Amino acid sequence: MTLLKGSILLGLLVIAFGREVNSRVKPGESRVVGGTEAAEGEIPWQVAIETYDGIHYCGGSIISERYFVSAGHCYDFPPTYFRVVAGSLKIAQPGSLHNVTRIIRHKDFNNFDLQNDISLWEVDPPFLWSDLISPIALPANGTETPTGLMLTTSGWGKTYTDPYPEILQKVDVPVVDVDYCVDVWWDVQDVYPYQICAGDTGKDSCNGDSGGPLYKDGVLYGIVSWGSPSCGEADLPGVYTRVSSFRDWIFEQIGV
Ligand SMILES: *[C@@H]1O[C@H](CO)[C@@H](O)[C@H](O)[C@H]1NC(C)=O
Ligand SMILES: *[C@@H]1O[C@H](CO)[C@@H](O)[C@H](O)[C@H]1NC(C)=O
Repeated sequence: MTLLKGSILLGLLVIAFGREVNSRVKPGESRVVGGTEAAEGEIPWQVAIETYDGIHYCGGSIISERYFVSAGHCYDFPPTYFRVVAGSLKIAQPGSLHNVTRIIRHKDFNNFDLQNDISLWEVDPPFLWSDLISPIALPANGTETPTGLMLTTSGWGKTYTDPYPEILQKVDVPVVDVDYCVDVWWDVQDVYPYQICAGDTGKDSCNGDSGGPLYKDGVLYGIVSWGSPSCGEADLPGVYTRVSSFRDWIFEQIGV
């Protein structure tokens, strides 16, 4: 397994055993592919992680007044390097801006193959609930996501047609059979039981959507983690951190 840390940081393509894989963080170049614009207040838990000077970096999902959850690999710099936008469809018009005071990354996070790709971010000031800002529920410990279940993922940035759409994009993606997912990714990267595979031809999350939600009916099932660099490829589903596998961990860390 050869995934260079520097490549992950920059979101560049990485060749491993002849196939390409990348984590989905790429400053200034994020996209959901095959999606549509979200409506105001439709995804009120969605946040954008930006650099302190306002370059889009990653996504996240609000789970309490002080915390949102994101991917482990989005934590590449000290908390002061980042700022967080909530309550916005357009990140260029932040509804609510927050500093990051603390980032808790899973101690078994592995930057080489993105095991345990989850982190908790504390913000200041706290989130203030409104029609545009509210938390998403977490699934119970061990909740399964059956193959074919239709989930939604969301994020900002490049789509197939627009390099930098202003408006938050969302796309529905079916959960893919885990054995199939392990098989198609076997020569590139291992897929673990604490991950969810989802996606369809032309419908996928992509670079820069990292850390963002995979959800249904107000419950957060997954966190955007990694996938094919071209995104939406027929036989290469996106890979998400399975939140129900980390339910106890979240509670242990922050009591939520
Ligand atoms: C973030 O922290 C900086 C430096 O302490 C401060 O100037 C700024 O007002 C803070 N932003 C928010 C939204 O609280
Ligand atoms: C959560 O699920 C795991 C795996 O099924 C189990 O081992 C663990 O005991 C569960 N934790 C709680 C608090 O029920």
